[in-house]
Amino acid sequence: MLINTEDSRGRARQNLPRFVFDYIEGAADDGHCLRRNLSDLAAVELTPRVLRDTTAVDTSVEVFGRKWALPFGIAPTGLNGLVRPRGDSLLAIAAARTGIPFALSTASNMRLEDVRSASPDGVQWMQLYVMHRDMAGQIVERAARAGYQALVLTVDVPVSGNREPDLRNGFRVPFKPSVKLAWDVMTHPTWSLRMLPGGAPDFANLTAAGGDAGSANAQAALLARAMDRSLVWETLAWLRGLWKGPLLLKGVLHPDDARLALDHGVDGLIVSNHGGRQNDASPSAISALPRVVTAINGRIPVFMDGGIRRGGDIAKALALGATAAFVGRPALYGLATDGAEGAQAVINLLAAELLRTMTLLGATSVSALPGALEGGGDQFTQ
Ligand code: FNR
Repeated sequence: MLINTEDSRGRARQNLPRFVFDYIEGAADDGHCLRRNLSDLAAVELTPRVLRDTTAVDTSVEVFGRKWALPFGIAPTGLNGLVRPRGDSLLAIAAARTGIPFALSTASNMRLEDVRSASPDGVQWMQLYVMHRDMAGQIVERAARAGYQALVLTVDVPVSGNREPDLRNGFRVPFKPSVKLAWDVMTHPTWSLRMLPGGAPDFANLTAAGGDAGSANAQAALLARAMDRSLVWETLAWLRGLWKGPLLLKGVLHPDDARLALDHGVDGLIVSNHGGRQNDASPSAISALPRVVTAINGRIPVFMDGGIRRGGDIAKALALGATAAFVGRPALYGLATDGAEGAQAVINLLAAELLRTMTLLGATSVSALPGALEGGGDQFTQ
């Protein structure tokens, strides 16, 4: 029985080969940042208000003119096809069914057009890594044509974080067979049989872009996570020229960067340390959030991700000024447990917990959540 997302994590650990589970769990260096994401969220206090009519509690939120049933979405994660074949479309379907957005990673195993057509009514955002500008430009144009509603430029991966379990497991894409990996795969026959028809997943978005030399180079760069490190604030004008919809930056933690984002016409920020997978010394996402919110001062929406494991964590993020939160690993635990249904079960768990928390707090709408910081619990506000 799944009582909480931790149960789903336990199932994922059972179902997946070790190298896949370790890849999902992966944190940089010693995992300090990952643990801070969790412990700082745990430390936030929300003070209930009593004797308020909570017969109707509205969890919805409006973002860029679209209504989300719940104030959270599924964060972009690469290689979802390793968890389940067509994992990206399964997550997109789960998100659409529950009225929340899904963000597709550049490093997905499915073509972005196929993911979009699997759930044409859902809110879908496209995450962008820039390895080569021509290739990035092609992805942006394809995402616009396919109907993605926002573009999320991830800015915290100038180079890949140091994920030592992947090194120990000998995990890399494309697969290089080893005795250790073969044993890992053989001892998880359900996963292996499921994977068989599709074979080892590749970066479909890049191969689909034409199969020319540029695409081969971009594949190689994404494999090595060799990003275009010459990307600077001024480069955003180039993206602006290609993308007319909302443009968000993901991976901002410093309030001065938040101000720079405003200066450069960015439409939204995702306060994130990439789930603790990049710089191990980064502050937790929840502790960085209020500083960014203060710098932005309501001019554009500010989202956060990192460490959300309970509906109550979402309430905390919103109380500290986020418009909405995103979840990374919990959605993958659900996907590993039972495909789209498993992801939906995780979303429903988080939704039920959020609803209960809001009711306990006496907050009948998400806009009432910041009020729960009054009377204590303001440890991260300035
Ligand atoms: C990620 N994340 C990520 N972010 C991004 O912008 N592009 C990507 O391709 C990926 N890939 C990726 C793979 C896996 C396995 C994980 C766990 C994470 C980061 C992700 O979007 C998000 O910032 C974190 O996952 C949030 O932290 P939690 O919710 O996992 O604690």
